[in-house]
Amino acid sequence: MSAPSNNKGKFITLEGGEGVGKSTQLRLLASHMRGLGLEVVETREPGGTPGAEAIRALLLDGEADRWNPRAEALLFAAARSDHVERVIRPGLESGAWVLCDRYIDSTRAYQAGASGLADEDIMAAHRIGSQGLMPDRTLLLSLPLDIAAERAAARDAGHTDRFGARDMEFHSNVAAAFRSYAEAEPERFCTIDASADPESVSAQILESLADILP
Ligand code: TYD
Repeated sequence: MSAPSNNKGKFITLEGGEGVGKSTQLRLLASHMRGLGLEVVETREPGGTPGAEAIRALLLDGEADRWNPRAEALLFAAARSDHVERVIRPGLESGAWVLCDRYIDSTRAYQAGASGLADEDIMAAHRIGSQGLMPDRTLLLSLPLDIAAERAAARDAGHTDRFGARDMEFHSNVAAAFRSYAEAEPERFCTIDASADPESVSAQILESLADILP
């Protein structure tokens, strides 16, 4: 259930709802870490390998009810399995820092918290698919829902994916689920106020990693 112990780098995930700025922050963090001379792997979910990117298209395109929540959760777990085996574990084993835009906590929040599956079932699929690999640190970017929705709408310009298109109640349940995971695991999670400008948010992120960065 934990990251490999022989690694030099660590496994860091960025989580949160749509429009909170995860991708921008991941790029800023990666560039800061490279400036420290660290080897960094930047990746994302669903995706990160050719196979997982193919599954991403199945998950994100099409009608909202294309999959039932159980099929959806298993597709996310399958995509993650390939990603962990081909990118995340090899990266960690080579000593790199792996930065991932969304990971298991997104499946917990979207497919359990907001879609009604049991968290323990999501974690069981994670054990089967990815040997339960967990991040060393998870940065939860938090933003009031209305601001996040405005930002996501401006970014997506009418082309929202199957999840972005869901109603405010769904997104509010996603946010509440993320908050509850952060409260339950305060050592792994750092909650970041994502309402400031990107540079200030990035500074908060660096501060929250000060205990693990060299
Ligand atoms: P992404 O393209 O990263 O969207 P955004 O930039 O809006 O954060 O993620 C795609 C969508 O997939 C996003 O709406 C969240 C959803 N998702 C899940 O429902 N479960 C998961 O396990 C993951 C990784 C993503």
